Amino acid sequence: MRLATLTCGGDCPGLNAVIRGIVRTASSEYGSTVVGYLDGWSGLLKDRRIDLYDDAFIDSILLRGGTILGTGRLHPDKFKAGLDTIKRNLDDAGIDALIAIGGEGTLKGAKWLSDNGVHVVGVPKTIDNDVAATDYTFGFDTAVSVATDAIDRLHTTAESHNRILIVEVMGRHVGWIALHAGMAGGAHYTVIPEEPFDIAEICKAMERRFQMGEKYGIIVVAEGAVPKEGTMDAGLGEEDEFGHVTFNGMGQIIADEIKNRLGYDVRTTVLGHIQRGGTPTAYDRVLATRYGINAARAAHEGKFDTCVALHGEDIELVSLESAVAHLKQVPESRYRSARTMFG
Ligand code: F6P
Repeated sequence: MRLATLTCGGDCPGLNAVIRGIVRTASSEYGSTVVGYLDGWSGLLKDRRIDLYDDAFIDSILLRGGTILGTGRLHPDKFKAGLDTIKRNLDDAGIDALIAIGGEGTLKGAKWLSDNGVHVVGVPKTIDNDVAATDYTFGFDTAVSVATDAIDRLHTTAESHNRILIVEVMGRHVGWIALHAGMAGGAHYTVIPEEPFDIAEICKAMERRFQMGEKYGIIVVAEGAVPKEGTMDAGLGEEDEFGHVTFNGMGQIIADEIKNRLGYDVRTTVLGHIQRGGTPTAYDRVLATRYGINAARAAHEGKFDTCVALHGEDIELVSLESAVAHLKQVPESRYRSARTMFG
């Protein structure tokens, strides 16, 4: 068999571990070869590919952040318009099945290809952990570790200067990184997109801390957080070419509002792509490797139109359809538990 793989969307620690898992499994269990398309879907459209061998190089990429194949986003219209080219390129390269590694948008693309006759297996990827079909996506644990380490460091400097420090973390539609890093880092308030925030309540929580003699505060803000309607004006981001609203710095907006209302010294740290770069944690290396192994096996067993997923301790196969059905949001009960630790 000849497999192809590609990585699409934002990069994520563990992508290379998935690629390594696919190549080694294909080679050692089935004697198959693997091709990697470069820079996401565009590499498939332009037939830009490399052969991936089960060699020392592939072995060495386990620890490496990013993706050796490069990644990118392609507008769905351009992608769909290229169906014939994609099919021809796969045929010409002798590809029997494609393993698409990506987030919600990529898996939707993979589902569409599958509906149009391409043999596809999906691997869910995103630091946001928002793919509903799986308990965890690789990259999430690394992002939470990076954010927690940053929060740990911010505690001591905030305390020394009697400051409120805001930490803005990634999370466009969901607040999993904020929720976990906030709890692990002992933040005094955490704001997530699923639960519109009331600035007056945040201010009250900070005031209470200062009245109780604690002269500093740490607030974790997910980049996609929004205020409760009618509570404050946060402006609107613009839409990019993919229809994503660009962020306008919610961490800083909250910082300015607290400063205006309470007069405290408030500063903001935006963690941004630091959360996405660098070597994956041990947990993410293991999860990503297992995804790679199981995706390669699924392809060889002809289990197409599927996606690998973690359920409890097991890696299972779910339909691509269910993998893209909806975003996995933070449930209200989880946020309520987190709230108990605020203040
Ligand atoms: O989906 C993963 C993610 O890291 C989001 O948390 C973030 O909003 C987005 O990607 C940023 O992506 P980029 O900087 O590549 O546009």
